[in-house]
Amino acid sequence: MTDGAMDGFDVTACERCPTLVECRSRIVNGVGPTDADLLFVGEAPGESEDEQGEPFVGRSGDVLDDGLRDVGLDRGDVRITNCVRCRPPDNRDPTDEELGNCRGYLGTEIDRIDPAVVVTLGKVPAEHLLGRDVAVTGEAGDVVEAEIGGERQRVLVCVHPAATLYDSSQRDTFASALERAAEFTDETSGQSRIGDF
Ligand code: URA
Repeated sequence: MTDGAMDGFDVTACERCPTLVECRSRIVNGVGPTDADLLFVGEAPGESEDEQGEPFVGRSGDVLDDGLRDVGLDRGDVRITNCVRCRPPDNRDPTDEELGNCRGYLGTEIDRIDPAVVVTLGKVPAEHLLGRDVAVTGEAGDVVEAEIGGERQRVLVCVHPAATLYDSSQRDTFASALERAAEFTDETSGQSRIGDF
C-alpha cells in the first residue's frame, strides 16, 4: 500500500482508495499554469480523463472550453483539477472517504497555486470545499470565502458543465458564472479587476 506521494503539484503514487486503485488507469493530476488566477475544481475524472490523464477532456471539457472562450479565456490560461484524482467506477460520485483521502492533495494544490478565485464545478466540489449543503443552481455566480488548508480563499460557485448538456436552462447560469470568474483574471482584458471584489 502506497500512502501517497506528491511531487510539486502532482500526486505520483497513492493507494489510499482500494476501489479507485482497481478502477483507474492512472492518477489524473491538475493541469494549467501554476500561477493561474482561476483554479477550476471538478469532482473526479471520468472515462476520457482516465484514458488521457487530464481533467475535463471529455464532453464536459468541451463545454468548459467553449464557455471559457466565450468570456475571452483559453483553457491554457486557467488551472483545472478535481477533488478526487482517480476515476470512480461507473462514474459514481466519490464517497466521503475518497474525498477525504484526496483532500490533502487538493489543499496543497490550492495553497501552492493561491489563485484569485477557486471555481467549483458542480455540487460535489462546492459542498466539499465550503463544508455545507450548496444549492448550486441558486448559488451559481456567488463568491464566498472559505478556509481551505488553513488559508482564506475566495470560492465562486458554478454549475457543472455537464449540467448544461442535460438541462438547457443551465446554460445561462453556467455562462454567467464564467463571466463572473473572468472578472478575477487579467488574461481577458490586460487589466486586473480583482480589486472590484
Ligand atoms: N467531470 C469532472 O468533474 N471532472 C472531470 O475531470 C471530468 C468530468
